[in-house]
Amino acid sequence: MTKKRILSGIQPSGTLTLGNYIGALQHFVRLQEEEECYFCIVDYHAITLPRNVEQLRENKRKLAATYLAVGIDPEKATLFAQSDVSAHLELGWIMITTSYMGELERMTQFKEKSKEAESIPAGLFTYPSLQAADIVLYNATHVPVGDDQKQHLELARDLAQRFNQRYGETFVIPEPMIAEFGARIMSLTEPTSKMSKSSLVEGSYISLLDDLKTVEKKIKRAVTDSENEIRFDAVNKPAVSNLLTIYSSITNKSMAEAEEHFAGKGYGALKTEVAEVVVDMLKPFQEKYEYYYQSEELDKLMQHGAEKARKVANETLQKVRDTLGVGFTNV
Ligand code: TYM
Repeated sequence: MTKKRILSGIQPSGTLTLGNYIGALQHFVRLQEEEECYFCIVDYHAITLPRNVEQLRENKRKLAATYLAVGIDPEKATLFAQSDVSAHLELGWIMITTSYMGELERMTQFKEKSKEAESIPAGLFTYPSLQAADIVLYNATHVPVGDDQKQHLELARDLAQRFNQRYGETFVIPEPMIAEFGARIMSLTEPTSKMSKSSLVEGSYISLLDDLKTVEKKIKRAVTDSENEIRFDAVNKPAVSNLLTIYSSITNKSMAEAEEHFAGKGYGALKTEVAEVVVDMLKPFQEKYEYYYQSEELDKLMQHGAEKARKVANETLQKVRDTLGVGFTNV
């Protein structure tokens, strides 16, 4: 069977949360064993909103160390920074010219983020077109993401299809890979909103770098409901369902197995066990993270990844340039 081509990206916008791990990173680690994988630090996406330079420098390193510490193996997958492969921006422009204002205006992430901005940066608006370029540049067949990226992925498919219709078959049409459980890990304090590091309530999210005692405390303080039955029901029991989802995702148990495991037990036991599995996962991660963050090995690995990515990306870009009829020399 031919391998799937996997591409996904994460923004270097601070310490990642347990949501990023369950919705994305955990899948990446599994996929690298079977498929041809490209994982990207999307630093050009991160500057669509103004950033502090020192902070971005640090966040980029933090994210590289996170990828490595969760178990991304640069021998198996290509790990690189978007800004190290200039083809992303070139194809990004081409995908902007393929996009319509109306479809970009409908993006819910754009609507949400532009609400907070005094003046709306144009890059925030064209962000999804660059994301489409990230994907089609590697002829990705599948894109593993959390639920919040679904709309961007639909747009990426539309743009790739539109380009193919206009200019002839050029891009592979990518399929989103969104897991049935765990694609939307919710806040621990307000289980109807997504777990997010931008939340002002610290107890609402678990950062992958939280001190382990704090992790335990946050999970033990997570809201539940007034019943005492442990079952998955995202509509009527969002808090308990979220804890069950975290448990089943990390232990790699099906939801039915997780429910069975907790049958007859109380919410106290649920929280204790969820805290245990999260702490057991984070402990070795944090040790490896410290190593990579400090290490020069990280810089070498990122350079190596960039070289591998550039080769693939430039090949697609050349094909696109030929298709469009631009340029006098090759990339
Ligand atoms: P970003 O950096 O916001 O998030 C990275 C990944 O984590 C997932 N995620 C979650 N999954 C489950 N529960 C949560 N609470 C949760 N929060 C975040 C996201 O869905 C995502 O998969 N636009 C993208 C980055 C990007 C990209 C790409 C992704 C740029 N180019 C090309 C795929 C392919 C973003 O901002 O993700």
